[in-house]
Amino acid sequence: MRKMRLGLLLSGRGSNFKAIVQAIQQGQLPHAEIALVISNHAEAGGLAFAREQNLATACFPPDTHPTRMALDQAMAEILKEYQVDLVILAGFDRILGPHVLSAYPHRILNIHPSLLPAYGGKGMVGLKVHAAVLKNGEKESGCTVHVVTETVDGGPILGQAKVAVAPSDTPECLAQKVLEQEHRLYPEMIGNYIQQLFKTEGTALHDATHV
Ligand code: GRF
Repeated sequence: MRKMRLGLLLSGRGSNFKAIVQAIQQGQLPHAEIALVISNHAEAGGLAFAREQNLATACFPPDTHPTRMALDQAMAEILKEYQVDLVILAGFDRILGPHVLSAYPHRILNIHPSLLPAYGGKGMVGLKVHAAVLKNGEKESGCTVHVVTETVDGGPILGQAKVAVAPSDTPECLAQKVLEQEHRLYPEMIGNYIQQLFKTEGTALHDATHV
């Protein structure tokens, strides 16, 4: 079985990206390899980690790529150049544009720190998510891995992990509890999705040889 070439998109510290690298290094994702790491922030911790790991990196900061279109075009081009099969959003703080979305239908995954469809959508990012969960007195929260479509946080859900919300939780400590689950859930869901893609491709190949 060939390996799926992953293209990681990140904007910040990249702890989910690190969990994915670790899963690959520990043999948990035998059919995945990281082809490229892209950031839109030069100072992103995840980008520095990628360089330490000797992974191919690209950076498109706002001063050289000020518009959504410019970023979208640059990312679509380089993802193609590096023959990326599956795009993984790992804390990427921009909404994807039409070039990347149309180049990778059903081939972009994201992780969101809530139990979608609750607490998702435009503007529901970072600590705002956890603050809203606490404000509403929810008893549980968690994270969701989903396929990315043009609807923000609205694509098909692949899996979720739950955490209990304690009355004493702050947004910061809830974020930490959820993040621990993210690090476990994301590599697992990526592995499952890759298996699913191989099965679908296998079927398509099989059908094609019988027409
Ligand atoms: C995570 O909470 C993830 O759910 C969200 O962005 C955050 C990224 O964190 N999409 P990190 O950069 O992976 O540490």
